[in-house]
Amino acid sequence: MKAKLTVNKCFKIGEVDPRIYGSFVEHLGRAVYGGVYEPGHPTADEMGFRGDVLELVKKIGVTAVRYPGGNFVSGYNWEDGVGPRELRPRKKELAWRSTETNEIGIDEFQAWAKKAGTDIIMAVNLGTRGPADAQNLVEYCNAPGGSYYADMRIKNGFEQPFGIKLWCLGNEMDGDWQIGHKTAEEYGRTAQEAAKLMKQMDPSIELVACGSSHYNMPTFGDWELTVLDHVYENVDYISLHQYYGNHTGNTADFLGRAEHMDAFIKSVASLCDAVKAKKHSAKTVNLSFDEWNVWYHSNGVSYPDWTVAPPILEDIYNFEDVLLVGSMLITLQNNCDRVKLACLAQLINVIAPIMTQTGGPAWAQTIFYPFMFASAFGRGTTLRPLVDCESYRTTDGIDVPWLSTSAILNEDGTELTVFAVNRSGEEELVLDLDAQGFEKVELLAHTQIIADDLNAVNTAESSPVVPTSVEPGETISLKPYSWNMLRFKV
Ligand code: AHR
Repeated sequence: MKAKLTVNKCFKIGEVDPRIYGSFVEHLGRAVYGGVYEPGHPTADEMGFRGDVLELVKKIGVTAVRYPGGNFVSGYNWEDGVGPRELRPRKKELAWRSTETNEIGIDEFQAWAKKAGTDIIMAVNLGTRGPADAQNLVEYCNAPGGSYYADMRIKNGFEQPFGIKLWCLGNEMDGDWQIGHKTAEEYGRTAQEAAKLMKQMDPSIELVACGSSHYNMPTFGDWELTVLDHVYENVDYISLHQYYGNHTGNTADFLGRAEHMDAFIKSVASLCDAVKAKKHSAKTVNLSFDEWNVWYHSNGVSYPDWTVAPPILEDIYNFEDVLLVGSMLITLQNNCDRVKLACLAQLINVIAPIMTQTGGPAWAQTIFYPFMFASAFGRGTTLRPLVDCESYRTTDGIDVPWLSTSAILNEDGTELTVFAVNRSGEEELVLDLDAQGFEKVELLAHTQIIADDLNAVNTAESSPVVPTSVEPGETISLKPYSWNMLRFKV
Protein backbone atom coordinates (compact mmCIF):
# COMPACT_ATOMS: atom_id res chain seq x y z
CA MET A 1 0.00 0.00 0.00
CA LYS A 2 1.22 3.52 -0.73
CA ALA A 3 1.20 6.32 1.80
CA LYS A 4 2.10 9.89 1.01
CA LEU A 5 3.16 12.31 3.70
CA THR A 6 3.36 15.98 2.72
CA VAL A 7 4.85 18.54 5.08
CA ASN A 8 5.85 22.13 4.47
CA LYS A 9 8.49 23.96 6.46
CA CYS A 10 6.12 26.94 6.83
CA PHE A 11 3.05 24.98 7.92
CA LYS A 12 3.66 24.52 11.63
CA ILE A 13 1.43 23.14 14.35
CA GLY A 14 3.65 24.52 17.10
CA GLU A 15 6.67 24.03 19.31
CA VAL A 16 6.88 20.77 21.24
CA ASP A 17 7.01 21.52 24.95
CA PRO A 18 9.58 19.00 26.28
CA ARG A 19 7.28 18.45 29.25
CA ILE A 20 4.99 16.31 27.06
CA TYR A 21 7.59 13.62 27.75
CA GLY A 22 6.70 13.44 31.42
CA SER A 23 5.76 10.46 33.54
CA PHE A 24 4.26 9.61 36.92
CA VAL A 25 5.34 7.97 40.19
CA GLU A 26 2.56 7.30 42.69
CA HIS A 27 2.75 5.78 46.15
CA LEU A 28 1.10 2.68 44.74
CA GLY A 29 2.25 -0.92 44.57
CA ARG A 30 5.99 -1.22 43.96
CA ALA A 31 6.44 2.13 42.20
CA VAL A 32 8.21 3.80 45.13
CA TYR A 33 9.09 0.89 47.45
CA GLY A 34 10.88 -1.68 45.29
CA GLY A 35 11.12 0.71 42.33
CA VAL A 36 12.56 4.11 43.26
CA TYR A 37 13.74 2.93 46.67
CA GLU A 38 15.14 -0.39 47.79
CA PRO A 39 17.89 0.13 50.36
CA GLY A 40 19.13 -3.48 50.41
CA HIS A 41 19.47 -3.73 46.63
CA PRO A 42 22.99 -4.35 45.24
CA THR A 43 22.76 -1.16 43.09
CA ALA A 44 21.30 1.04 45.86
CA ASP A 45 23.09 4.30 46.63
CA GLU A 46 23.61 5.91 50.04
CA MET A 47 19.98 7.12 50.04
CA GLY A 48 18.62 3.68 49.16
CA PHE A 49 17.73 4.63 45.56
CA ARG A 50 18.16 1.81 43.06
CA GLY A 51 21.00 2.70 40.69
CA ASP A 52 19.79 0.39 37.91
CA VAL A 53 16.38 2.09 37.96
CA LEU A 54 17.94 5.56 37.92
CA GLU A 55 19.95 4.55 34.84
CA LEU A 56 16.80 3.44 33.03
CA VAL A 57 14.92 6.58 34.08
CA LYS A 58 17.71 8.71 32.62
CA LYS A 59 17.78 6.59 29.47
CA ILE A 60 14.04 6.86 28.77
CA GLY A 61 14.37 10.66 29.03
CA VAL A 62 11.44 11.69 31.22
CA THR A 63 11.39 15.45 31.62
CA ALA A 64 8.97 15.75 34.54
CA VAL A 65 7.47 13.27 37.02
CA ARG A 66 4.05 13.71 38.60
CA TYR A 67 4.07 12.81 42.32
CA PRO A 68 2.79 11.45 44.79
CA GLY A 69 -0.54 10.49 43.14
CA GLY A 70 -2.98 9.72 41.63
CA ASN A 71 -5.73 8.42 43.86
CA PHE A 72 -3.19 8.18 46.69
CA VAL A 73 -2.84 11.94 47.01
CA SER A 74 -6.50 12.45 47.91
CA GLY A 75 -5.96 10.91 51.36
CA TYR A 76 -2.34 11.94 51.87
CA ASN A 77 -0.89 14.17 54.59
CA TRP A 78 2.37 15.43 53.14
CA GLU A 79 3.67 16.16 56.65
CA ASP A 80 3.70 12.37 57.34
CA GLY A 81 6.52 12.03 54.80
CA VAL A 82 8.96 14.65 56.11
CA GLY A 83 11.24 14.88 59.11
CA PRO A 84 13.01 12.13 61.06
CA ARG A 85 12.09 8.75 59.58
CA GLU A 86 11.65 7.05 62.93
CA LEU A 87 8.87 9.52 63.75
CA ARG A 88 6.96 9.07 60.50
CA PRO A 89 3.60 7.31 60.92
CA ARG A 90 2.79 3.97 59.35
CA LYS A 91 -0.72 4.33 57.93
CA LYS A 92 -3.53 2.46 56.28
CA GLU A 93 -3.76 3.97 52.81
CA LEU A 94 -7.37 3.85 51.62
CA ALA A 95 -7.03 4.50 47.88
CA TRP A 96 -5.15 1.26 47.19
CA ARG A 97 -5.87 -0.47 50.53
CA SER A 98 -2.16 -0.84 51.28
CA THR A 99 0.08 0.12 54.20
CA GLU A 100 2.11 3.29 53.65
CA THR A 101 5.33 3.39 55.68
CA ASN A 102 6.16 7.02 54.74
CA GLU A 103 9.86 6.16 54.44
CA ILE A 104 9.77 8.25 51.26
CA GLY A 105 8.20 11.69 51.13
CA ILE A 106 8.85 14.90 49.23
CA ASP A 107 12.29 15.41 50.86
CA GLU A 108 13.59 12.13 49.46
CA PHE A 109 11.64 12.25 46.22
CA GLN A 110 13.00 15.64 45.21
CA ALA A 111 16.53 14.32 45.85
CA TRP A 112 15.73 11.30 43.64
CA ALA A 113 14.30 13.54 40.90
CA LYS A 114 17.50 15.60 40.90
CA LYS A 115 19.57 12.43 40.51
CA ALA A 116 17.26 11.34 37.68
CA GLY A 117 17.57 14.76 36.00
CA THR A 118 13.84 15.36 35.92
CA ASP A 119 11.42 18.02 37.22
CA ILE A 120 8.54 17.28 39.59
CA ILE A 121 4.86 17.91 38.95
CA MET A 122 3.53 18.01 42.50
CA ALA A 123 -0.07 17.11 43.29
CA VAL A 124 -1.87 18.47 46.36
CA ASN A 125 -4.63 16.76 48.34
CA LEU A 126 -7.98 18.38 47.64
CA GLY A 127 -9.86 15.25 48.71
CA THR A 128 -9.56 15.08 52.51
CA ARG A 129 -7.69 18.38 52.81
CA GLY A 130 -7.95 21.83 51.35
CA PRO A 131 -6.46 25.18 50.32
CA ALA A 132 -4.49 25.85 53.53
CA ASP A 133 -2.62 22.52 53.40
CA ALA A 134 -1.83 23.11 49.74
CA GLN A 135 -0.52 26.59 50.55
CA ASN A 136 1.66 25.14 53.35
CA LEU A 137 3.14 22.55 51.01
CA VAL A 138 4.05 25.24 48.48
CA GLU A 139 5.73 27.14 51.30
CA TYR A 140 7.58 24.02 52.48
CA CYS A 141 8.87 23.30 48.96
CA ASN A 142 9.51 26.74 47.52
CA ALA A 143 9.90 29.46 50.15
CA PRO A 144 13.44 30.53 51.05
CA GLY A 145 13.15 30.47 54.87
CA GLY A 146 12.07 32.78 57.67
CA SER A 147 8.56 31.34 57.86
CA TYR A 148 7.19 28.25 59.61
CA TYR A 149 7.05 25.64 56.82
CA ALA A 150 10.15 26.84 55.00
CA ASP A 151 12.03 26.68 58.28
CA MET A 152 10.67 23.16 58.83
CA ARG A 153 12.26 22.13 55.52
CA ILE A 154 15.55 23.73 56.53
CA LYS A 155 15.42 21.96 59.90
CA ASN A 156 14.87 18.70 58.02
CA GLY A 157 18.18 19.26 56.27
CA PHE A 158 17.20 21.05 53.06
CA GLU A 159 18.54 24.58 53.11
CA GLN A 160 17.74 25.25 49.46
CA PRO A 161 14.10 25.45 48.31
CA PHE A 162 13.05 22.61 46.00
CA GLY A 163 11.77 25.05 43.38
CA ILE A 164 8.81 22.98 42.17
CA LYS A 165 7.12 24.92 39.40
CA LEU A 166 4.21 22.72 38.38
CA TRP A 167 1.34 21.79 40.68
CA CYS A 168 -1.83 19.73 40.24
CA LEU A 169 -4.93 20.86 42.11
CA GLY A 170 -5.96 17.39 43.29
CA ASN A 171 -6.57 14.25 41.26
CA GLU A 172 -9.64 12.93 39.41
CA MET A 173 -12.03 14.75 41.69
CA ASP A 174 -14.95 13.92 39.35
CA GLY A 175 -14.67 10.18 40.09
CA ASP A 176 -16.84 8.61 42.79
CA TRP A 177 -13.90 6.29 43.63
CA GLN A 178 -11.83 9.29 44.64
CA ILE A 179 -11.34 9.98 48.34
CA GLY A 180 -13.17 13.27 48.88
CA HIS A 181 -14.97 13.10 45.50
CA LYS A 182 -16.70 16.38 44.69
CA THR A 183 -19.27 17.78 42.34
CA ALA A 184 -17.91 20.17 39.71
CA GLU A 185 -19.31 23.08 41.68
CA GLU A 186 -17.69 21.93 44.94
CA TYR A 187 -14.37 21.17 43.27
CA GLY A 188 -14.36 24.38 41.23
CA ARG A 189 -14.76 26.47 44.39
CA THR A 190 -12.13 24.54 46.36
CA ALA A 191 -9.65 24.55 43.49
CA GLN A 192 -10.12 28.27 42.97
CA GLU A 193 -9.41 29.05 46.62
CA ALA A 194 -6.42 26.69 46.68
CA ALA A 195 -5.08 28.26 43.48
CA LYS A 196 -5.34 31.75 44.98
CA LEU A 197 -3.43 30.80 48.13
CA MET A 198 -0.80 28.73 46.32
CA LYS A 199 -0.08 31.49 43.82
CA GLN A 200 0.09 34.07 46.59
CA MET A 201 2.69 31.90 48.29
CA ASP A 202 4.69 31.53 45.05
CA PRO A 203 3.52 33.56 42.04
CA SER A 204 5.96 31.74 39.76
CA ILE A 205 4.17 28.38 39.92
CA GLU A 206 1.87 26.96 37.24
CA LEU A 207 -1.34 25.14 38.14
CA VAL A 208 -3.27 22.26 36.61
CA ALA A 209 -6.99 21.94 37.39
CA CYS A 210 -8.62 18.50 37.31
CA GLY A 211 -10.52 17.75 34.16
CA SER A 212 -12.47 14.54 33.65
CA SER A 213 -11.00 11.18 34.66
CA HIS A 214 -11.68 9.91 31.15
CA TYR A 215 -13.65 10.79 28.07
CA ASN A 216 -16.61 8.54 28.95
CA MET A 217 -17.27 10.03 32.36
CA PRO A 218 -21.00 10.89 32.47
CA THR A 219 -20.10 14.41 33.60
CA PHE A 220 -17.52 15.00 30.82
CA GLY A 221 -18.00 18.41 29.26
CA ASP A 222 -20.20 19.85 31.99
CA TRP A 223 -17.40 19.17 34.48
CA GLU A 224 -14.83 21.12 32.44
CA LEU A 225 -17.21 24.03 31.79
CA THR A 226 -18.22 24.38 35.44
CA VAL A 227 -14.72 23.95 36.87
CA LEU A 228 -13.17 26.35 34.37
CA ASP A 229 -15.89 28.87 35.06
CA HIS A 230 -14.52 29.05 38.62
CA VAL A 231 -10.79 28.71 38.07
CA TYR A 232 -10.15 30.09 34.59
CA GLU A 233 -8.06 33.13 35.49
CA ASN A 234 -6.04 31.31 38.18
CA VAL A 235 -4.97 28.12 36.40
CA ASP A 236 -2.75 27.42 33.45
CA TYR A 237 -3.85 23.93 32.39
CA ILE A 238 -6.71 21.49 32.70
CA SER A 239 -5.98 17.78 32.95
CA LEU A 240 -7.00 14.86 30.75
CA HIS A 241 -6.60 11.20 31.73
CA GLN A 242 -7.14 8.23 29.44
CA TYR A 243 -6.08 4.58 29.44
CA TYR A 244 -6.87 2.07 26.70
CA GLY A 245 -6.95 -1.71 26.63
CA ASN A 246 -7.51 -4.34 23.96
CA HIS A 247 -10.44 -5.89 25.78
CA THR A 248 -12.00 -7.53 22.72
CA GLY A 249 -8.87 -8.83 21.00
CA ASN A 250 -9.55 -6.52 18.03
CA THR A 251 -6.15 -5.07 17.09
CA ALA A 252 -7.51 -2.62 14.51
CA ASP A 253 -9.91 -1.13 17.06
CA PHE A 254 -7.16 -1.02 19.68
CA LEU A 255 -4.67 0.76 17.41
CA GLY A 256 -7.39 3.22 16.42
CA ARG A 257 -7.58 4.51 20.01
CA ALA A 258 -4.89 7.08 19.19
CA GLU A 259 -7.48 8.83 16.98
CA HIS A 260 -9.95 8.67 19.87
CA MET A 261 -7.29 10.37 22.00
CA ASP A 262 -6.93 13.04 19.31
CA ALA A 263 -10.69 13.73 19.38
CA PHE A 264 -10.63 13.88 23.19
CA ILE A 265 -7.85 16.49 23.12
CA LYS A 266 -9.68 18.61 20.57
CA SER A 267 -12.90 18.41 22.60
CA VAL A 268 -11.19 19.62 25.79
CA ALA A 269 -9.44 22.43 23.90
CA SER A 270 -12.87 23.51 22.60
CA LEU A 271 -14.31 23.47 26.13
CA CYS A 272 -11.44 25.68 27.34
CA ASP A 273 -12.02 28.08 24.48
CA ALA A 274 -15.76 28.19 25.10
CA VAL A 275 -15.08 29.42 28.64
CA LYS A 276 -12.47 31.84 27.31
CA ALA A 277 -15.07 33.28 24.93
CA LYS A 278 -17.76 33.50 27.60
CA LYS A 279 -15.38 35.34 29.90
CA HIS A 280 -14.05 37.65 27.17
CA SER A 281 -10.64 36.52 28.39
CA ALA A 282 -7.35 37.16 26.63
CA LYS A 283 -5.86 34.14 28.34
CA THR A 284 -5.70 30.62 26.87
CA VAL A 285 -5.87 27.62 29.19
CA ASN A 286 -3.85 24.74 27.77
CA LEU A 287 -3.95 21.00 28.37
CA SER A 288 -2.06 18.65 30.66
CA PHE A 289 -2.56 15.03 29.54
CA ASP A 290 -1.15 13.91 32.85
CA GLU A 291 -2.20 10.25 32.79
CA TRP A 292 -2.12 8.21 29.59
CA ASN A 293 -1.10 4.68 28.70
CA VAL A 294 -2.29 1.18 27.90
CA TRP A 295 -3.74 -0.42 31.04
CA TYR A 296 -5.61 -3.72 31.13
CA HIS A 297 -3.16 -6.64 31.31
CA SER A 298 -3.22 -6.70 35.11
CA ASN A 299 -7.00 -6.34 35.46
CA GLY A 300 -8.49 -8.81 37.91
CA VAL A 301 -5.21 -9.55 39.72
CA SER A 302 -5.53 -8.75 43.42
CA TYR A 303 -3.42 -8.95 46.57
CA PRO A 304 -4.27 -8.98 50.28
CA ASP A 305 -5.29 -5.65 51.79
CA TRP A 306 -2.96 -3.55 53.92
CA THR A 307 0.30 -5.08 52.73
CA VAL A 308 3.35 -2.89 52.11
CA ALA A 309 4.11 -2.36 48.42
CA PRO A 310 2.04 -5.21 46.96
CA PRO A 311 2.80 -5.91 43.27
CA ILE A 312 -0.43 -4.36 41.97
CA LEU A 313 -1.13 -3.04 38.45
CA GLU A 314 2.02 -4.67 37.08
CA ASP A 315 0.99 -4.81 33.43
CA ILE A 316 3.38 -6.76 31.24
CA TYR A 317 3.43 -4.89 27.95
CA ASN A 318 3.60 -6.60 24.59
CA PHE A 319 4.54 -5.61 21.06
CA GLU A 320 0.95 -4.61 20.20
CA ASP A 321 1.19 -2.01 22.98
CA VAL A 322 4.31 -0.51 21.33
CA LEU A 323 2.17 0.30 18.30
CA LEU A 324 -0.52 2.07 20.30
CA VAL A 325 1.86 3.85 22.68
CA GLY A 326 3.90 4.97 19.65
CA SER A 327 0.73 6.32 18.00
CA MET A 328 -0.41 8.04 21.20
CA LEU A 329 2.94 9.84 21.35
CA ILE A 330 2.37 10.90 17.74
CA THR A 331 -1.07 12.23 18.75
CA LEU A 332 0.50 14.25 21.56
CA GLN A 333 3.14 15.65 19.21
CA ASN A 334 0.50 16.60 16.64
CA ASN A 335 -1.43 18.48 19.34
CA CYS A 336 1.57 20.33 20.72
CA ASP A 337 -0.15 23.67 20.18
CA ARG A 338 -2.51 22.83 23.09
CA VAL A 339 -0.97 19.92 25.01
CA LYS A 340 1.93 21.38 26.97
CA LEU A 341 2.33 18.67 29.60
CA ALA A 342 1.78 14.93 29.43
CA CYS A 343 2.62 12.01 31.72
CA LEU A 344 3.01 8.41 30.67
CA ALA A 345 1.38 6.68 33.63
CA GLN A 346 3.32 5.38 35.26
CA LEU A 347 7.12 5.03 35.32
CA ILE A 348 8.25 2.07 37.43
CA ASN A 349 6.51 -1.29 38.03
CA VAL A 350 2.96 0.12 38.12
CA ILE A 351 1.62 0.19 34.51
CA ALA A 352 5.14 1.20 33.62
CA PRO A 353 7.87 1.06 30.98
CA ILE A 354 10.46 0.12 33.66
CA MET A 355 10.15 -3.13 35.62
CA THR A 356 12.12 -4.45 38.55
CA GLN A 357 12.43 -7.61 40.55
CA THR A 358 12.80 -6.90 44.23
CA GLY A 359 16.41 -7.85 44.95
CA GLY A 360 16.89 -8.62 41.25
CA PRO A 361 17.37 -6.86 37.92
CA ALA A 362 15.56 -3.94 36.29
CA TRP A 363 14.63 -3.97 32.61
CA ALA A 364 12.88 -2.04 29.84
CA GLN A 365 9.38 -3.16 28.92
CA THR A 366 8.38 -3.01 25.24
CA ILE A 367 6.76 0.45 25.54
CA PHE A 368 10.01 1.91 26.89
CA TYR A 369 11.41 2.32 23.38
CA PRO A 370 8.87 4.46 21.51
CA PHE A 371 8.87 6.83 24.49
CA MET A 372 12.66 6.97 24.65
CA PHE A 373 12.96 7.88 20.95
CA ALA A 374 10.10 10.40 21.08
CA SER A 375 11.75 12.18 24.00
CA ALA A 376 15.20 12.14 22.41
CA PHE A 377 14.23 13.12 18.84
CA GLY A 378 10.70 14.53 19.06
CA ARG A 379 11.71 18.03 20.09
CA GLY A 380 11.45 21.20 18.04
CA THR A 381 8.60 22.27 15.76
CA THR A 382 5.83 19.90 14.72
CA LEU A 383 4.92 20.41 11.07
CA ARG A 384 1.35 19.79 9.96
CA PRO A 385 1.29 16.30 8.41
CA LEU A 386 -0.91 15.85 5.33
CA VAL A 387 -1.44 12.12 5.08
CA ASP A 388 -2.75 10.51 1.94
CA CYS A 389 -3.36 6.82 2.54
CA GLU A 390 -6.21 4.37 2.91
CA SER A 391 -8.04 4.15 6.18
CA TYR A 392 -10.36 1.80 8.04
CA ARG A 393 -13.29 2.29 10.38
CA THR A 394 -13.30 1.03 13.97
CA THR A 395 -16.36 -0.80 15.29
CA ASP A 396 -17.32 2.40 17.16
CA GLY A 397 -17.18 4.41 13.93
CA ILE A 398 -13.82 6.20 14.05
CA ASP A 399 -11.96 6.58 10.73
CA VAL A 400 -8.32 5.59 11.15
CA PRO A 401 -5.62 6.00 8.50
CA TRP A 402 -3.37 2.93 8.29
CA LEU A 403 -0.45 5.32 8.75
CA SER A 404 -0.08 7.21 12.03
CA THR A 405 2.60 9.87 11.67
CA SER A 406 4.16 13.11 12.89
CA ALA A 407 7.01 15.20 11.50
CA ILE A 408 9.20 17.32 13.74
CA LEU A 409 11.85 19.79 12.65
CA ASN A 410 14.57 19.84 15.30
CA GLU A 411 15.50 22.97 17.23
CA ASP A 412 18.36 24.04 14.96
CA GLY A 413 16.46 23.23 11.78
CA THR A 414 18.96 20.66 10.52
CA GLU A 415 16.97 17.46 10.93
CA LEU A 416 13.41 16.41 10.24
CA THR A 417 12.28 13.41 12.25
CA VAL A 418 9.27 11.42 11.08
CA PHE A 419 7.61 9.05 13.54
CA ALA A 420 5.43 6.50 11.77
CA VAL A 421 3.33 3.50 12.79
CA ASN A 422 1.98 1.08 10.22
CA ARG A 423 -1.30 -0.10 11.73
CA SER A 424 -1.82 -2.75 9.08
CA GLY A 425 -0.76 -6.28 9.85
CA GLU A 426 -1.28 -7.33 6.24
CA GLU A 427 0.48 -4.80 4.07
CA GLU A 428 3.69 -2.85 4.14
CA LEU A 429 3.36 0.90 3.61
CA VAL A 430 5.62 2.43 0.99
CA LEU A 431 6.18 5.94 2.30
CA ASP A 432 6.53 8.83 -0.12
CA LEU A 433 7.70 11.92 1.78
CA ASP A 434 7.12 15.28 0.11
CA ALA A 435 9.01 17.69 2.39
CA GLN A 436 8.33 21.13 0.91
CA GLY A 437 10.40 24.21 1.61
CA PHE A 438 13.63 22.30 2.22
CA GLU A 439 16.52 22.45 -0.23
CA LYS A 440 17.70 18.92 0.33
CA VAL A 441 16.18 15.97 2.16
CA GLU A 442 18.41 13.00 2.85
CA LEU A 443 17.51 9.95 4.92
CA LEU A 444 20.11 9.60 7.67
CA ALA A 445 18.71 6.76 9.73
CA HIS A 446 15.71 4.49 9.90
CA THR A 447 14.99 2.83 13.25
CA GLN A 448 12.15 0.34 13.57
CA ILE A 449 10.50 -1.90 16.12
CA ILE A 450 8.92 -5.06 14.76
CA ALA A 451 8.20 -8.49 16.19
CA ASP A 452 6.84 -11.76 14.82
CA ASP A 453 4.18 -11.89 17.47
CA LEU A 454 1.93 -9.09 18.71
CA ASN A 455 2.02 -10.79 22.11
CA ALA A 456 5.83 -10.76 22.41
CA VAL A 457 7.02 -9.32 25.74
CA ASN A 458 10.33 -8.36 27.34
CA THR A 459 11.25 -10.03 30.63
CA ALA A 460 14.15 -10.00 33.08
CA GLU A 461 15.66 -12.86 31.08
CA SER A 462 15.10 -11.86 27.45
CA SER A 463 14.13 -8.82 25.40
CA PRO A 464 12.84 -9.75 21.94
CA VAL A 465 11.12 -6.37 21.43
CA VAL A 466 13.90 -3.86 20.89
CA PRO A 467 14.68 -1.23 18.23
CA THR A 468 16.77 -2.19 15.19
CA SER A 469 18.35 -0.17 12.38
CA VAL A 470 17.18 -0.47 8.78
CA GLU A 471 19.67 0.20 5.97
CA PRO A 472 18.31 3.16 3.95
CA GLY A 473 17.33 1.93 0.43
CA GLU A 474 15.65 3.22 -2.73
CA THR A 475 12.23 3.29 -1.09
CA ILE A 476 11.05 3.69 2.48
CA SER A 477 9.20 0.61 3.56
CA LEU A 478 7.23 0.53 6.78
CA LYS A 479 6.76 -3.15 7.58
CA PRO A 480 3.33 -4.51 8.55
CA TYR A 481 2.71 -3.78 12.22
CA SER A 482 5.78 -1.65 12.77
CA TRP A 483 6.86 1.43 14.71
CA ASN A 484 9.39 3.56 12.83
CA MET A 485 11.53 6.63 13.26
CA LEU A 486 13.05 8.21 10.14
CA ARG A 487 15.63 10.93 10.58
CA PHE A 488 16.25 13.16 7.57
CA LYS A 489 19.04 15.68 7.17
CA VAL A 490 17.47 18.85 5.75
O1 AHR B 1 -2.41 5.50 37.47
C1 AHR B 1 -3.23 4.71 38.27
C2 AHR B 1 -4.48 5.46 38.73
O2 AHR B 1 -5.27 5.76 37.61
C3 AHR B 1 -4.25 6.79 39.37
O3 AHR B 1 -4.01 6.70 40.74
C4 AHR B 1 -5.56 7.50 39.15
O4 AHR B 1 -5.40 8.89 39.06
C5 AHR B 1 -6.09 6.88 37.88
O5 AHR B 1 -7.40 6.50 38.01
